[in-house]
Amino acid sequence: MMPGPILFLDSGVGGLSVLRAVAARLPDAPLVYCADSAGYPYGTKGEAEVSARVAGLLGRLAERIQPSLIVIACNTASTIALGYVRPVLSVGVVGTVPAIKPAAEQSLTRVIGVLGTEATVRQPYVADLSARFAADCRVLKHGSAPLVAAAEAKLRGEAVDPAVYAEALQGLLAQPGGQQMDIVVLACTHFPLLAEELAAAAPRPLTFVDGASGIARRCAHLLDGVQWPGPKPEGRAIFTGGTEGLAPLTPALHGFGLTRVEGL
Ligand code: DGL
Repeated sequence: MMPGPILFLDSGVGGLSVLRAVAARLPDAPLVYCADSAGYPYGTKGEAEVSARVAGLLGRLAERIQPSLIVIACNTASTIALGYVRPVLSVGVVGTVPAIKPAAEQSLTRVIGVLGTEATVRQPYVADLSARFAADCRVLKHGSAPLVAAAEAKLRGEAVDPAVYAEALQGLLAQPGGQQMDIVVLACTHFPLLAEELAAAAPRPLTFVDGASGIARRCAHLLDGVQWPGPKPEGRAIFTGGTEGLAPLTPALHGFGLTRVEGL
């Protein structure tokens, strides 16, 4: 049987930061990207709603697309729902969780920031990662919904008020210990799409880390030995809210190799 594509899921465009790293690592693998635009944003929703959406959607998509591997390219969905969806799907699932471990390995000051969605930063999963991998660090957390919206706007070619970036960073820097913080974990997949803007808005140099390269390594490991049939099919982007109003996003999607855009 022909191996199926790698399926990525996020609420919006954020997961493209993960897809980019996986595509660079596995250039021959066919890719399908699903944006749950009908459920966007996840970060301001409750746990029950996010897990129900993600479990239902992944079940439908897995049946329809028959992927070789699923990547939940969203920290909010992964930290809330990974434990529920893994046992019920018959295909491997890779999650995206805050890169607290690499941040703790690199921090010189032992103060690290976690910038995610409001839902992600309150998850026990994040507290657990901090306890396991950053026990000797002070871990500051801040959730920013405007930063998620800024990434969506940027990819649509819309202007973004630069104050959004400075405010998100201040959410960490203004906390006790914030002045010592040297590393910021970009714990929402939308945020690496704003890496340049965040670096420019930082009042002093900060190192930003995210999980995309680790996820790409994990995918390559899990799919080791798979022979991808050539020629590679067009990259597909599926929007659960339909295709209306997507024209401004098309150039960005093409830039990520997603040339076939469809609704669900
Ligand atoms: N990209 C998502 C994440 O990694 C969620 C953004 C949202 O829908 O709020 O958390």
